[in-house]
Order: sequence, then C-alpha cells, then structure tokens
Amino acid sequence: MKILMAKNYEEMSKIAASAVVESIRKNPAAVLGLPTGHTPEGMYRLLVRAYEREEVDFSEVTTFNLDEYIGLPPEHPASYHFFMAKHFFNHVNCDATKNHIPNSLASDIDGECIMYDRKLESAGGIDLLVLGLGGNGHIGFNEPDARLQTKTHRVRLSSATRKANSIHFPERDTVPMESITLGMEAIMSARKILLLVSGTQKRSILKQTLAGYISTDLPASLLQLHKDVLLIADEEALGKSTAS
Ligand code: GLP
Repeated sequence: MKILMAKNYEEMSKIAASAVVESIRKNPAAVLGLPTGHTPEGMYRLLVRAYEREEVDFSEVTTFNLDEYIGLPPEHPASYHFFMAKHFFNHVNCDATKNHIPNSLASDIDGECIMYDRKLESAGGIDLLVLGLGGNGHIGFNEPDARLQTKTHRVRLSSATRKANSIHFPERDTVPMESITLGMEAIMSARKILLLVSGTQKRSILKQTLAGYISTDLPASLLQLHKDVLLIADEEALGKSTAS
C-alpha cells in the first residue's frame, strides 16, 4: 500500500479528485466504484468543479456505488441515492443509464444482489475504486465479522455503524438495520483503489488497518493484500510519523 499524507481534508480531497480525473483522462470509459459518507464529499465537490471548468468529461464513465440502506427510498435524505444525486450526479454529465446503486427497495433483495454483480461483471469490473473507512474498519458495508462475504449481499449493520451513521438521519431510530453492499471480491478485484481517511476520530482504526495483520474483524486490513492501493490520509488521521 502506498501512503500519501495530505495536510488536511481539503488537500486529501484535492489529491483524490485529481486521481479520479487522471484516470478518466486515460480511459474515458472507466468504471468507477464510488463511496458515500462525509469523507468523499470534498472530492465530489472538486470533481463537479473540474467538470464545470471542462477539465473532465463523465459522459462515457460507468459507476457502481458500494452500498445502499435497505428500505430507504431514493428521496430519503440519508439514502445513498439521494447523496449521490445531491453531491455528484445532478451536477455532472454522467449518463444515468451507466450509474448503478443497489436497489434496496427491490422485492427480491437476494436477486437484486445477484443482478448487481452481473452488471458489474458485464461492465468488466472496477477500474478505480474510491473507498472511505468505517469507524469500525468496515469498507462499503462489509462489517467486521468472523467471515466476510465475497459477493454483493444483504448485511445486518452493527450497532457501532448505526450509531455512527445516525448523524445523517433525522431521528436515530430511523437508521435501517440492514443494507446491500458490494462484497470483498468486487472490492479486491478493483484494478486500483484509493482509500480516503480523514480526522483524528479515524486515527486508531487506521493504525490498526495498517498494522501488518489481516483480519475479517477489520475488513479494511485486507486492503494490505491488494497490489495497487493508494491511501490518502490527512495528518489528523495518520499522525505525522506514519507516512512514507
Ligand atoms: C458508511 C459507508 C461507507 C463509508 C463509511 C465512513 O458506513 N457505507 O462506505 O466509508 O460510512 O463514513 P464517513 O466518511 O462519513 O466517516
């Protein structure tokens, strides 16, 4: 894993946005894997700006989001459909037919998961996957567990994750119990991964992620086995002495 230490959140976002723009310039029909959460908001803002300045064209890009809460309609302000529209899709020239987010309102969730993997497979897999880091080490919604699932699947959210994510919900008790997430196979077969981490609250879990051990109790630790991961973390998350 290559580690890039950014001074702060803004710089982390800038480096991440530049990496995304560069990869689209190299391959205008790139397949992107996209995250939600507070961490990538700055990156999306800068990607929108790059589009407005005509520095990047998203028209041929295909996107696959990592996850979505089961049962939240797209118009719910905490849904990831809503997030993506608000922060990105509504402001750039992405082709909506090429933007994929799990349909967590599907009557057959297991069937939806199978379809999602099929769509990703026929798109050729992910060229560039951007990831955030959950406070408990989850990636996408692959939660710490004795076993991690390879395929897209429905997952029961841990109470730590529901608590952490409750800030995005009008009332704490409305955080869904389950979500759909890409599995570890799609994540680990992405050709390149950017892992974005910001803030002192992520410092301890990031340190454990990089500690040189892998464990399904810390899903992000598996990223240490991937051949092309660039960790872009700010000073607050990394602590000054950790960067190479
Ligand atoms: C959610 C998402 C993850 C994201 C994580 C961290 O649980 N499913 O994909 O990485 O939150 O969120 P934040 O960036 O807000 O800390």
